[in-house]
Amino acid sequence: MAESGTLHDAFIDELRDTYDAEKQLTKALPKLAKAASNPKLRQAFESHLEETQGQIARLEQVFESLDEKARGKHCDGIAGIIEEGKSIMEEDFDETTMDACLIAAGQRAEHYEMAAYGTLIAWSEAMGHTEATRLLQQNLNEEKAADKKLSSLAEGGINQSAAEGAHPEEEELVGAASGAKRGSAKAGRR
Ligand SMILES: [Fe+2]
Ligand SMILES: [Fe+2]
Repeated sequence: MAESGTLHDAFIDELRDTYDAEKQLTKALPKLAKAASNPKLRQAFESHLEETQGQIARLEQVFESLDEKARGKHCDGIAGIIEEGKSIMEEDFDETTMDACLIAAGQRAEHYEMAAYGTLIAWSEAMGHTEATRLLQQNLNEEKAADKKLSSLAEGGINQSAAEGAHPEEEELVGAASGAKRGSAKAGRR
């Protein structure tokens, strides 16, 4: 296969890489879920784990539609992202800060996957693999939704409560200044 070196070969190669990445993520997501304190965040990781299992099955259909055997090829990129996530979990952060960091780690993985599926879809489309394109698009849609969900949890309270733990004195000042005295709030900033 490598001898001919066409876009189709590169496509199969990328598929194997992504198939392996998804499999690595099925092992990493339960760890993220376990490390999360916020119940909604834990649930988001757990439900994305279920989706990921479905994505693996969909990738197997993609291989089948191309008359290729489903097999993976070690994905170094996602392995690195997972490795970074593991070091974060070893840090001694307070609960909400850890949650904010788990979201950051999760979103790195989602964006990596979005980039991979974006390329796969573009190549698949260009080569006219209609069925593969359709299936890959479903996976991409799930990655995008997972990424959005993590953003909404971060911006919907987790970042703010982590920030309040980091700068409690500013919180008071901002509260006191909400009437008129903007100067005093500014004075408390570092
Ligand atoms: Fe995925
Ligand atoms: Fe994902």
